[in-house]
Amino acid sequence: MNDIETIINLAYVVAAALFILGLKLLSHPDTAKRGNFVSAVGMLIAVVVTLLDQQIITYQWIILGVVIGGAFGAWKAKSVEMTAMPEMVSLFNGFGGAASLLLGWATLSGMSMVALQTATAFTYITLFFTILVGGVTFSGSVVAWGKLSGKMSSKAVIFTGLRELSVLHLIAMLVVGYLFTTEPQNTLWLYCAIALALSFGLWATISIGGADMPVVIALLNSYSGVAATAAGLATGNTILIVTGLLVGASGLILTNIMCKAMNRSLMNVLLSGFSKPVEAGEKIEGEIKILSAQDAFYVLEAAQSVLVVPGYGMAVAQAQHAVREMQSLLEENGCTVDYAIHAVAGRMPGHMNVLLAEADVPYDQLYEMDDVNPRMENYDVVIVIGANDVVNPAAKEMKGSPIYGMPVIEAYRAKTVFVLKRSANAGFAGVDNPLFFKDNTRMVLGDAKETINSIVREFGDD
Ligand code: TAP
Repeated sequence: MNDIETIINLAYVVAAALFILGLKLLSHPDTAKRGNFVSAVGMLIAVVVTLLDQQIITYQWIILGVVIGGAFGAWKAKSVEMTAMPEMVSLFNGFGGAASLLLGWATLSGMSMVALQTATAFTYITLFFTILVGGVTFSGSVVAWGKLSGKMSSKAVIFTGLRELSVLHLIAMLVVGYLFTTEPQNTLWLYCAIALALSFGLWATISIGGADMPVVIALLNSYSGVAATAAGLATGNTILIVTGLLVGASGLILTNIMCKAMNRSLMNVLLSGFSKPVEAGEKIEGEIKILSAQDAFYVLEAAQSVLVVPGYGMAVAQAQHAVREMQSLLEENGCTVDYAIHAVAGRMPGHMNVLLAEADVPYDQLYEMDDVNPRMENYDVVIVIGANDVVNPAAKEMKGSPIYGMPVIEAYRAKTVFVLKRSANAGFAGVDNPLFFKDNTRMVLGDAKETINSIVREFGDD
């Protein structure tokens, strides 16, 4: 190894260490911003070293790409609504997959006749994987983006013969994979691999309902890492292998956490389109009791301990700052305030944590479901703010319910429950919520931010 190679490999080790440190820092809200910065520095080192090491294309093109890509990324990051974040993440995963596909394609196209004849089977197998997984990631992510952004129906698209089509696809991939690796100079197999990859990503994602899209996105994120790893193996680029493995592993861990929080297996999510429709749950008996924000204030004024359970509706209403203000007023009044965060509350992992951190809610007042459920009876009031599925007792009580078995925050076991939402409509899973009908539940109807602001004003008038 000459001196230049040693320096390049050392720089790659530094970049990889920064990625790992960045991931570690990202695991806590206080250090997350620094984690992002540290990882970005790692990426800058990796990119600069790679550009200096290899003659890829002229610098004019590289600079043009950096300027256009950087400007687009900065504009998107500034303008995206918090509620539209999952679909943006999906699109970014897709671009990662597309980049791997193009890299695999360009690597193969750039190989001379001699290189094609002397390259090992390992190179062709990894190139095939790069193109295949990259293509599946790209088209699957575009469908996930379409479903989440409402650009296409979020319903699972099922048609007769879908299962057979998928099996045929898998067989075709094996056949093309064999032909691609044995006759790499024949570009027909390259184009067949690209077409199969893109169409498989399409079928596999189109048959999954919008409700499962966040899990699919985490899985596609993992795929984009696998595609990058394969690209790194094919091109002998160490840093691509390391980053690809980090993305692949973290995406898989996230997928697993989300599946567990919904009490579903990954297979159940991926094959949900092939299974029989779930029977509707039992009809809920009882009466909904409505309370005004003013009456809610009187109860809160006398409360000693309050638990806030935020959900997707808090993100829609952008109520986090009002919630923080209410927390301060309750605390000044001698009440303790805790927050219970369900792992799949909202529409993306950590959605509630991010919003509450933005409003300066102290992190040590945030508890996971398993911490609060055992002490639920001790809370005087649980305020459910725009959450629905994650507090739905049907998951415990109604065997026929589609969400039966999902671990939920057992708000219904508290002394009093306030549910702040605009109607008694079902949540994301489309399942009615018996919590609204419980004797100890009062619904405070309206936009969550307006309701909390009304309660805050009552504290001021008092
Ligand atoms: P949801 O069950 O989706 O319920 C949110 C509720 O917010 C709705 O019922 C809606 O009721 C209410 N809402 C909307 N806008 C509001 C506003 N401006 N003010 C007050 N309320 C408002 O939310 P959740 O409890 O957070 O559950 C999340 C769901 O997403 C779960 O089904 C979960 O499985 C699914 N999911 C999440 C993830 C991740 S990673 N977070 C991943 C996969 C699946 P109204 O229309 O009556 O107001």
